[in-house]
Amino acid sequence: MASSSSRKPSICRVLLVFLVLAYHCDAFYLPGSYMNVYSSEDPIFAKVNSLTSIETELPFNYYSLPYCKPPGGVKKSAENLGELLMGDQIDNSPYRFRMNVNETVYLCTTEPLNEDQVKLLKHRTRDLYQVNMILDNLPAMRFTEQNGVKIQWTGFPVGYTPSNSEDDYIINHLKFTVLVHEYEGSGVEIIGTGEEGMGVITQTERKKSSGFEIVGFQVQPCSIKHDPEVMKKYQMLENITGVDCPKELDKSQIIREKEQVSFTYEVQFIKSDIRWPSRWDAYLRMEGSKVHWFSILNSLMVIFFLAGIVFVIFLRTVRRDLTRYEELDKESQAQMNEELSGWKLVVGDVFREPDCSKLLCVMVGDGVQILGMAVVTVVCTAFGFMSPASRGMLLTGMIILYLFLGIIAGYVGVRAWRTIKGTSEGWRSVSWSVACFFPGIVFVILTILNFILWSSKSTGAIPISLYFELLALWFCISVPLTLLGGFFGTRAEEIQFPVRTNQIPREIPARKYPSWLLILGAGTLPFGTLFIELFFILSSIWLGRFYYVFGFLLIVLSLLVIVCAEVSVVLTYMHLCVEDWRWWWKAFFASGSVALYVFLYSIHYLVFELQSLSGPISAILYLGYSLIMATAIMLSTGTIGFLMSFYFVHYLFSSVKID
Ligand SMILES: *[C@@H]1O[C@H](CO)[C@@H](O)[C@H](O)[C@H]1NC(C)=O
Ligand SMILES: *[C@@H]1O[C@H](CO)[C@@H](O)[C@H](O)[C@H]1NC(C)=O
Repeated sequence: MASSSSRKPSICRVLLVFLVLAYHCDAFYLPGSYMNVYSSEDPIFAKVNSLTSIETELPFNYYSLPYCKPPGGVKKSAENLGELLMGDQIDNSPYRFRMNVNETVYLCTTEPLNEDQVKLLKHRTRDLYQVNMILDNLPAMRFTEQNGVKIQWTGFPVGYTPSNSEDDYIINHLKFTVLVHEYEGSGVEIIGTGEEGMGVITQTERKKSSGFEIVGFQVQPCSIKHDPEVMKKYQMLENITGVDCPKELDKSQIIREKEQVSFTYEVQFIKSDIRWPSRWDAYLRMEGSKVHWFSILNSLMVIFFLAGIVFVIFLRTVRRDLTRYEELDKESQAQMNEELSGWKLVVGDVFREPDCSKLLCVMVGDGVQILGMAVVTVVCTAFGFMSPASRGMLLTGMIILYLFLGIIAGYVGVRAWRTIKGTSEGWRSVSWSVACFFPGIVFVILTILNFILWSSKSTGAIPISLYFELLALWFCISVPLTLLGGFFGTRAEEIQFPVRTNQIPREIPARKYPSWLLILGAGTLPFGTLFIELFFILSSIWLGRFYYVFGFLLIVLSLLVIVCAEVSVVLTYMHLCVEDWRWWWKAFFASGSVALYVFLYSIHYLVFELQSLSGPISAILYLGYSLIMATAIMLSTGTIGFLMSFYFVHYLFSSVKID
């Protein structure tokens, strides 16, 4: 009876997770991943994203520089929550391509540059700002050669500064190469499996039975001094001839006051064998990735080995203890009890309520929520439901997922509370705290960062409307769902402790080493699993490098979960063996302390990898985001450790028959 009633909510939970998962994997697939098929001479407009720099972390609007504006005015192009949060601001642009038409086109000529514009252009050039252009969802890719090695970039610089020169030159001519693949479909090929009627209709409408798909987008930037008087006679998008990229500096367009800058570009379409589904491969190939793979594999092996040893030792110890204990008869058991120092002595205290038990429950609830979000996201990306194109989409998916997983957070938090307290009294307050604890921390940090960004006029600041949108989502979806989850938690079957707790707490003998030292040491093990991957993730977030090994991330995540569980269990066992029965928080922080290392590592990364990060604002921004990340990692890894230790202790004491 009892077991069937407890199974019900858990089935619901699993179903819900799958629903959310299915919905999201689908949602990941939808935006921009439809294949567009164009006929010859179909116009295609490129879009522009924010200007970004690897030197500073502040993105700026493309049109903050004196670039040509589209005739119909600047319009925001479809954006999502995540893109906004990441400071992306995708706008339309006057760059028009016509399928399979090779042409050289004039865009516009600026007014004579004034002092402010010159200062701004020079500033952005010196800060190595990049223009990010997007065609058919593909970012423009650029190749340069350095010491004979071909390096691949996305975007092109605002300008460049020749070595030992005071002058800066602006990029005003772009040579685009668009790779196209001839498409001859039957017209009924299924690209995505969208259930929503609307989605399917737009999808089939867009498809034509034959035409061309865009499978590559490359740009080669250069600086040309045009004669503004000649250029001004042309209309925007009119054909021009004879534009060659000069090698000499005196034929390049200098950034100086009173200069008029003309913008031009040329396009050539080249047929390619690359097929549409593999068009992203070019972006995902990174030079020298083999080295990384090797070191990753290497560390993986070490980790497996370590975890294996730990596990074997641990299994043996527990087994031997148990069998020896059971073999003895009652009399000698009593004798043994006195002789044996160890976990059996704390039987009357092991389930004593820990200090700050409410906080523990709240943190565990939030940890489950974050962990669930991470697992579902990584699984979705690892199986290719997400193109690496839409970083923003990934973030949106994660946020929505997080909101919906509130139900599980509430459930786990309240269930833990009930287990510790033995009554579900006060579950509402626990649920509220679960709903507000981590999001609250994030909001406080984001608000502070936003004030800093607003004052520096960066596009990275979250717009105020979005800010309230997020708040609304939080209070309209997350909070009610968490409360609902909490309610389910009160209905779930109670977890009974196998042994009774004594009235008087047992004295904890003094130890050679303080336990926080052990806990800190334990954190290094999960950190070992994580840190190589962390380097890639940080590079992808902060240096705009493509992160492409989601499959690998899945492996690392699974390993991390295993290592966290093991470390915490081993540490709990060690503590119980020296008669320290206050294991609850120690179990949490044994694996949760990895977050401290992650935070230290991100500071190390700031100092050694992002040395060029200019200005205190960027550094504060970076540290703020790192703090959010570290908190999330602490909650999720700590939760893994805690839950595992709880089951371990529960198992340990229910398998020994003590009266
Ligand atoms: C520009 O040149 C291309 C080919 O060189 C041609 O196809 C196109 O029609 C020309 N456009 C105009 C407006 O003359
Ligand atoms: C455009 O230029 C490329 C490279 O020069 C050439 O291969 C292609 O045939 C040209 N396309 C047209 C339509 O002229």
